[in-house]
Order: sequence, then structure tokens, then C-alpha cells
Amino acid sequence: MDVSFYQNLLKIWEKLNSELDIDFVLSNAMKFLEEEIGAERSSIWEIDFDKNEIFFRVVSGDESEKLKEIRLKMGEGVVGHTISEKKMIIINNVKESPFWSKKVDSVSHFETKSILSVPLEYKGEVIGAIQLINKLKNEGFTKRDVEKVKMIAIPVSTALVNAKMYNELKNIFFETSLALADAIEKRDYYTAGHTRRVMKYSVMIGEKIGMSKEQLYWLSLSAILHDIGKIGIPDAILNKQAPLNDAEKEIMRKHPVLGYEIVKKVEGLRKALDGILYHHETENGEGYPEGLKGNEIPLFAKIISVCDTFDAMTTDRPYRKALSTEIALNELEKFSGKQFDPEVVEVFKEIISKEILRELNET
Ligand SMILES: [Fe+2]
Repeated sequence: MDVSFYQNLLKIWEKLNSELDIDFVLSNAMKFLEEEIGAERSSIWEIDFDKNEIFFRVVSGDESEKLKEIRLKMGEGVVGHTISEKKMIIINNVKESPFWSKKVDSVSHFETKSILSVPLEYKGEVIGAIQLINKLKNEGFTKRDVEKVKMIAIPVSTALVNAKMYNELKNIFFETSLALADAIEKRDYYTAGHTRRVMKYSVMIGEKIGMSKEQLYWLSLSAILHDIGKIGIPDAILNKQAPLNDAEKEIMRKHPVLGYEIVKKVEGLRKALDGILYHHETENGEGYPEGLKGNEIPLFAKIISVCDTFDAMTTDRPYRKALSTEIALNELEKFSGKQFDPEVVEVFKEIISKEILRELNET
């Protein structure tokens, strides 16, 4: 194996250990392997331990999205055999193989001729498999190819396990945060469902402006936790049946900092802090707690601010009835550029109009 193979291999190891999008890095790793070995297609299969099935985590070729819907039983096909027997398999003429399943080819309309299948292992347990399809040169897959795949298989296995653990951790944070937000809402009868709606609207804006999956996750957590600081506000103020006086307002205005103080102690929630601390800042610098202006205000906070205010206006409050959607949107427009970011308001109006149309069509 030449020097450039090892250099590229090291780059892949490095990327698989970074915070980059795992599926993107895995796809690149497989592309590298395809070129290095001279194969027509490649894939990474993973085990769904709950359902006892195997599925494509990454697969190259035009039909990759369709192929990802395929599920094989454990032991089914060449890949199933590789996984259940924990065995590397080379087949240079699939038609002669008793293990080969036509399932994948019938979806992709691709003709599989030869297969190299290597199990992915982590701490002695099989977690999936790497496959290369159709060796371009006539010689068929060789032992040398197997060595190359094995070298990629080690960091790929580790990355898959890490990604799974990271996702589980993220889900725990998400569920715990929702439970916390619900518990706080229960103290305040009038805001039932407020947090979930703010989260829903925020994510809709984030999607519309092209945020990545990762950013959307942090935005939704930030939206869920934005009023977590209300835990420190006395009931008498939180549930007052009339507008707050100046002294009470002053206490109420502490909730972003209180929330920030609570959440900052949790390392895994760090990226949600901006929306919590700054969701009451305003474009003209008259907001709180820091009086930030315009672009000094983080995007998460700008988005949550619009969604929070809209939902507060369109639901009943202790001291007034809910405003109509139309009036609430007019209010957002009126304060666009003063209280709210004009671009966020524009996107939000577009989203809400579509939502209303959708709801009308459904009824
Ligand atoms: Fe708030």
C-alpha cells in the first residue's frame, strides 16, 4: 500500500473523530475506499438491534435514498451472513453464491456481479458491515482489498457507536428539558402548551432559513428552555390577574438570567444558552438583560422572541383575552425593526399564513 493511502486514511480517522456530520464523513470514507479499491458501489450496513434487522447507513449510487428504505432480516443475503457469522466474505460471481439476495438489485436496478463484505466490530461485537460491489478490474476482489477495508472498518465502527451514544444522550436532554418545561408550565394555567408551540414555530423558521439538523436541534432545545428561569419567579407575580407593577416587572425581568444560571451548569446544554439569556432583547437595544442591539442579538434569541411574543398574544392571559392571528401578525409588523428582527418577522408571517391555509384546507 502506498503512502497516499495512509495519508488519506489518517485524514478519514481524524474526520471520523471530529464533530462533523457523521453521515457525510462516512460517505466520504466510502467514496475514498471505492476509488482506492476500484469498485463500482459501496455501503455501510448497520444493525437495528430493537427490530433484529439490518439497514443501509450509507450507500453510494443514484438510488441511494430508495435503498435506505430496504430492511433485511439478520442472516439474510451476503451482508446478513457476514454479520451473523462475523465473517469476511468475497464473492466474485454472485450468481454462484447461495447467500446472495436479489432484494437490493431489484430496487436499484443495478446488477451486482461481485461483493466484498467485511463485518464492522466494536469491542468484539458485530455492529454492521462494509460492502464493496463490482470490482472494476477483472481480477475480482483480493486479500489486499480486504486489508484496506479492515483499516477503514476500525474508525467507522467507533464513529457509529459514538454517534449512537451521542444521539441517545441528545434524546435524554431533549426529553428531560421538555419535562422540566412542562413542570414549569403547570404552575401557570394560562400558558399550557406555550413552550411546545414556541418550539414548533421556531423550528419552522429555522427550517425555512436552511438551518442544519444540528442547529435545529439546538434551536428547539433553546426554545423549550427559554423560560426555564421562571422557576425562580414567585407564584404571586407569575399568576397575577392584572398587569404587573414596576417592582413586579423588575422581578419578572430576571427570568432570562435565572434560566441562564441554571442551564449554564449543564455542559451538554451549552449551545442552547443564547436563546435563554437573550430572548427579551430587542432590535433597538431597549430590551433586557443586556440591552443588545440588532446583530449583537444571537439568531436563536431573535427567532424565539418573535415566536414567544406571537404565542403570548394569541393565547388568553390572566388579564386579557387572546388576540386574533391577524391582529397579532399586524403587531409583529408594527414592531418589526424596533423590537423584532425584520427578516425573522417576514419569514414568520409567511409560515403562519401557510399554516392557516393548511388548517383551513383540513377543516
Ligand atoms: Fe421569557
